[in-house]
Amino acid sequence: MNQTFIKPITLGGVQFESNLIQAPLAGVSCAPFRDMIWQYGELAYCATEMVSAKTLLLAKPPKRYIYKSATEGPLCFQLSGTNPEELHRAVDIAILHGADLIDLNCGCPMPKVRHRGCGSRLLSDSSKLYQLVTTLRKATDKPLSIKIRVDGQSGDRFNADVIKAVNDGGADFIVVHGRHWTEDYETEVRYDEIAATVQASKIPVIGNGNVKNYASLQRLMETGCAGAMIGRGSTGKPWLFAELSANDKGLTFTPPSSIEIGKLFLLHIEKLIALENEPRALLQGRQFSKYYARAAGLGPEVYLQFYTVKSLEELRMLIDACFI
Ligand SMILES: Cc1cc2nc3c(=O)[nH]c(=O)nc-3n(C[C@H](O)[C@H](O)[C@H](O)COP(=O)(O)O)c2cc1C
Repeated sequence: MNQTFIKPITLGGVQFESNLIQAPLAGVSCAPFRDMIWQYGELAYCATEMVSAKTLLLAKPPKRYIYKSATEGPLCFQLSGTNPEELHRAVDIAILHGADLIDLNCGCPMPKVRHRGCGSRLLSDSSKLYQLVTTLRKATDKPLSIKIRVDGQSGDRFNADVIKAVNDGGADFIVVHGRHWTEDYETEVRYDEIAATVQASKIPVIGNGNVKNYASLQRLMETGCAGAMIGRGSTGKPWLFAELSANDKGLTFTPPSSIEIGKLFLLHIEKLIALENEPRALLQGRQFSKYYARAAGLGPEVYLQFYTVKSLEELRMLIDACFI
């Protein structure tokens, strides 16, 4: 099988080797996670987790939001905000910290984000959205994307006003997550609405939702989208992009063994410790234990043991005992 869905892509005048992208994941996609992904490569870029313009404008923004490691490939800073002046200044700061692309979050469903008029709230205010897109366009020549959700509930299959605002405002491409903002991640992806978005947009559309293997990538690419953004599929599986690229060439990919996955998990936590500190890293390590255990075919009886780990040494011993 040689479908060649994966190919180079030009976004905002910049050519990327692949049309696969690592999605922003709050609490996950800081530099150590992205570094793990880049070890295997075969993608266009990774995104930061969402960071509000206000946070970037702090005298000392938290390091996990701004740190880009020297070994990372291209990085997209995903911003949230509703104040044009703040967003403009936040773009300057993002670029100072190494942003290669800029994205505006228009999909976050969290009440505290929506109450501020940000995230998915912008999907029902297309004139505000247009104002913010034009502001961001003026702020940078770097590739600019807007990450939206499908409409899903209007009966229109997509929100034509949103697509128009993003196109007319001067964004370079759209990323569309194929679920309505009220829908959880278990809801089936609305592929027909992603396809309708592709049809309605003059600028490229990157599809997003549920890519976990080559079959699900194929399903997403059949919408006609120009590329695929992957979120949860690569958590604990930093080789996923390399696996999909091999499959696209008709090759089989040998995933790491359970012992190797344990080593990846340890390396990820060591990188987190270097970025933050041991207690915080071990706390985050709980969710990563789930992801890496799942990738190694291990269940809750294994990953729940990691929830009580108190030191890096203890973590190392438990990994040695479990990932065999
Ligand atoms: C834990 C978690 C955190 C997320 N954080 C963000 C975020 O900061 N910004 C954003 O645009 N989307 C965020 N998302 C949504 C993902 O980027 C992506 O759109 C969604 O998970 C669907 O893709 P997937 O099915 O490949 O995971 C998050 C999703 C999850 C599960």
